[in-house]
Amino acid sequence: PKTEFVADLIAKMTIEEKIGQLNLPTSGDITTGQANSSDVAKNIEEGKVGGLFNIKSVKKIKEVQKIAVEKSRLKIPLLFGMDVIHGYETTFPIPLGLSSTWDMDLIERSAQIAAQEASADGINWTFSPMVDVSRDPRWGRVSEGSGEDPFLGGKIAEAMVKGYQQEDLSKNNTILSCVKHFALYGASEAGRDYNTVDMSRIRMYNDYFPPYKAAVDAGVGSVMAAFNEVDGIPATGNKWLMTDVLRNQWGFKGFVVTDYTGINEMVDHGMGDLQAVSALAMNAGIEMDMVGEGFLKTLKKSLAEKKVSIEQIDNAVRLILNAKYDLGLFHDPYKYCDENRAKTEVFTKSNRAEARTIATQSLVLLKNKNQLLPLRKSGTIAVIGPLADAKENMAGTWSVATNMQKSISLIAGIREVAGSSAKVLYAKGSNLVYDAAFEERATMFGKTLNRDSRTAAELLEEAVKIANQSDIIVAALGESAELSGESSSRTNLEIPQAQKDLLEALLKTGKPVVLVLFTGRPLVLVQENENVPAILNTWFAGSEAGSAIADVLFGNVNPSGKLTATFPRSVGQVPIYYNQKNTGRPLLNKEGKFEKFRSNYIDERNEPLYHFGYGLSYTNFKYTNLKISNNKVNFDEKIKVSVEVENTGNFNGKEVVQLYIRDLVGSVTRPIKELKGFQKIFIKKGEKTTVTFDIGVEDLKFYNSNLQFVAEPGLFEIFVGTDSNTENKVEFELVK
Ligand code: IFM
Repeated sequence: PKTEFVADLIAKMTIEEKIGQLNLPTSGDITTGQANSSDVAKNIEEGKVGGLFNIKSVKKIKEVQKIAVEKSRLKIPLLFGMDVIHGYETTFPIPLGLSSTWDMDLIERSAQIAAQEASADGINWTFSPMVDVSRDPRWGRVSEGSGEDPFLGGKIAEAMVKGYQQEDLSKNNTILSCVKHFALYGASEAGRDYNTVDMSRIRMYNDYFPPYKAAVDAGVGSVMAAFNEVDGIPATGNKWLMTDVLRNQWGFKGFVVTDYTGINEMVDHGMGDLQAVSALAMNAGIEMDMVGEGFLKTLKKSLAEKKVSIEQIDNAVRLILNAKYDLGLFHDPYKYCDENRAKTEVFTKSNRAEARTIATQSLVLLKNKNQLLPLRKSGTIAVIGPLADAKENMAGTWSVATNMQKSISLIAGIREVAGSSAKVLYAKGSNLVYDAAFEERATMFGKTLNRDSRTAAELLEEAVKIANQSDIIVAALGESAELSGESSSRTNLEIPQAQKDLLEALLKTGKPVVLVLFTGRPLVLVQENENVPAILNTWFAGSEAGSAIADVLFGNVNPSGKLTATFPRSVGQVPIYYNQKNTGRPLLNKEGKFEKFRSNYIDERNEPLYHFGYGLSYTNFKYTNLKISNNKVNFDEKIKVSVEVENTGNFNGKEVVQLYIRDLVGSVTRPIKELKGFQKIFIKKGEKTTVTFDIGVEDLKFYNSNLQFVAEPGLFEIFVGTDSNTENKVEFELVK
């Protein structure tokens, strides 16, 4: 019936109504950019709107839906989209933090809760997951993705799509997912947002495409085009990308929406005037135009001039109506507009409890000298830093539905978890940065500014005084929520100087210091790693951040997060990633010493500060007895890889056991290591367990220079260990 229903409806539509379905204005409720859509209510009545986005509350959504289904001629319901990126009102860690859990069930669950809450509040479509692989922490949007690895990124993409859409989109607690930004947005040159991307197709297919494809394979309902160009043509107008790859090669059946004014921006890319770029987008395979109204204003003319065809327009309309049908909107346009659900299912106690648990799993312990952590719940604890009492910064970037004032700050979390036997003191210590204008530039929604009017010297003096009265210092430093995120590219990856000066003063007191780091990207932490005994990286852990961080600081939860993006030693090493190629002149000297005429720097080592997959625990895990079932396998056999992992420390804990493969000889050069499996397991102290992986030919495949997905016979190494730096390996041969 869907096919006939939609075909019948299309047959009744005027050309204006058809083009209207392809139009996605913004409501103006939550401003995400400069452009304002015109006459939204009137356009809805005239059938010139297919959906709206970033409008919040059942009441408002109901009013708008009412115009569409009661006043427009064909009564076609609207889609209501929103950037529900890492939770709705209950906010989870930023996606880079979520990825650090390496726990696909938890990630799926976070998306499911987000869908539950968003759908209870009227939303039926989310612009998530964002799966752009990035190897460049200068780019502010690394915070929104899953890091640098295509394999892990693919697993996460799949988990998120499943979480949002579940098995059945017609239920009222699932929402349509939109994978973005197709494609390669994370590879913008110099890490500058919206900048040019240029890469070989073989790299696209092997390193950057897998997460988008995984989302398509998982049944994602929509795709968002990237702002950047791909192979010299903006993604929004790129037929090879949108039609050949996405539809013909991958079999995508949903609809493609542009990013915000993506069509109009092709004018600035130098692709022609608004009519030309709108036709270019339609011919490429774009169905919906976000905000810019290029389709609305020019498609009819282009049709008359035969620059686009009615078949193309009908097809685009069909795909959008299909999505509305799948969501059940034709059956009940108000199915997401239940005031009662909005009151009872959003920001609930149990959702918040789950968010707290998930947040604890995302924290990454980077250093813990002499087991300074976990802290004792006694004595005097000084919590110092501009991020210590900063509710407005806990949720992190792109949390448009969050009420920041309801987030749990670090100081509140510490007070709650430490309880009354510890004395907790607080000082701000510094502003986030010295330069107020810089801070202002970083804000997107203007919500995270909280500058103190006292001078830097006054703030510092107070902090040192408080520090001197304490037994231990918890320094809450790093980035504010929007120092990373969209349009927050940085050339300097250090903690801002104002806070470095504060840290230095705190260290000088001679008291032990724990650095609780807030960040949306890998930072350069060489000095901190040298001088601070304990560093807990907390990303932006969401609305329950403060409680979750305190759970880990005081040992109620043993940290188990692992980095999904390499932390460089210097910004000059960027782009830096573990799955690099060997080159013809690899660095031979493992100690990192310079050797002339090898691939290295004269002023820095090649090694990062913290490797991909790295993260400590309060306990220790010992890997022994790595074994492989056979040393020779043919193309239809599987091999079993097993390793024993023992918890040799004093705490129960979780470990992410990671398996990497190296293809030693290929028809094209192959990375020195590629993640091909991982398991997050719980091991009680003193206990040992055996972890096994099945490796088959699919795990050995890659795209060759003809872009065929193949495995080639030859020698392979398998590494299993605690992070990507492991040398624990076995070898086997793939034979024909
Ligand atoms: O979904 C976002 C996208 O990631 C960036 N530009 C705006 C869109 C809608 O808010």
